[in-house]
Amino acid sequence: MALSLVTAGESHGRALVAIVSGLPAGLVLDKDQIDADLHRRQQGYGRSPRQQIEQDEVEVLAGLRHGRTLGTPLALVVHNRDHKNWEWGMSPWPPEGEAGGKGTKAVTLPRPGHADLAGTLKYGFADVRDVLERASARHTAVIVAAGAVAKALIAKIAITVEGRVLTEDIEQQVDEARADRDTVGGIVEVRARGVPPGLGTYATKDERLDARLASSLMGTQAVKGVEIGEGFGLASKRGSEAHDEILRDERGLYRDTNRAGGIEGGVSNGEEIIVRAAMKPLPTLMKPLASVDLQTGEPAQALVERSDTAAVEALAVVAEACVAWELARAAKDKFGGDALDDLVAAHRAYLERIDWSPR
Ligand SMILES: Cc1cc2nc3c(=O)[nH]c(=O)nc-3n(C[C@H](O)[C@H](O)[C@H](O)COP(=O)(O)O)c2cc1C
Repeated sequence: MALSLVTAGESHGRALVAIVSGLPAGLVLDKDQIDADLHRRQQGYGRSPRQQIEQDEVEVLAGLRHGRTLGTPLALVVHNRDHKNWEWGMSPWPPEGEAGGKGTKAVTLPRPGHADLAGTLKYGFADVRDVLERASARHTAVIVAAGAVAKALIAKIAITVEGRVLTEDIEQQVDEARADRDTVGGIVEVRARGVPPGLGTYATKDERLDARLASSLMGTQAVKGVEIGEGFGLASKRGSEAHDEILRDERGLYRDTNRAGGIEGGVSNGEEIIVRAAMKPLPTLMKPLASVDLQTGEPAQALVERSDTAAVEALAVVAEACVAWELARAAKDKFGGDALDDLVAAHRAYLERIDWSPR
């Protein structure tokens, strides 16, 4: 069974939920490790005070017994502590009693750069909150939880994944932007080591590993560009300078360069996987841009809501989770196994067959 992920949850609803199906039985999960990634996602220079309210931790509702996966769907929950301030405003059922707390007044001032206007028009909502609650990057909390599970799985076949920020002087940029009541974006990079050749396939478009990585990263809020290896830079190089020559030594086939970022023809080639994502400046501004009040049709200023100045460090953690997830999915496709030992044995037998070893 293929690895699959379904999520639900709104930013100020009761909780975010992820259901991970297709995990092999017998994988040991460590709550502290999942919580550590959730904590990392909340860190970073330029985050909003919301991060002090939320002390994210994972709750497991199903699929795990005594710390081991059962081979059944794994249900993960991350609660929104802030929900206590939104019980009336985010009540799933028609709220009873006096309106109180946050979210009681309809939002009618869409923010440029957010899903607000397009989503409101698309679904015919009268309250922009019906859009922004799900479009919000709060959603990435459960992506990170599922990514931590994926990391535990691929660690069993010696694959590690690490995300980092490439943008320089981010703290200074944040300080300057905050002083101007503005926001910034940035660039993150994820590297995966130990990935054997053969994950992903050119057989169909949507099974190409590069396509899956790009889709997962581009599907993340505020990501507007993705490149694999030298990506856009390759366009201005000659073929003789752009490709990675194939070499062989006593440990097997390898490359001296890695401009392809570890993927050729949609298939991992045994080199480090290198993926970058560009994040746009966050759209909620304390000095709001021009908008239109959707109720009156009059010119207005966009909604101002508590918001990050930058979230690029958080994006590095989310991007790491996305890459880990896609590698776990591709590894499950390649090695199969509804029991962890079978997956690990298939990986070992494969490495014995091919002329490659991890470096
Ligand atoms: C980790 C993370 C945190 C974010 N925090 C904010 C935020 O505090 N305020 C904001 O306006 N946008 C934030 N964003 C970006 C918006 O969610 C995103 O720009 C918006 O949903 C529109 O989607 P799009 O940029 O993909 O088109 C964040 C994105 C990420 C990945």
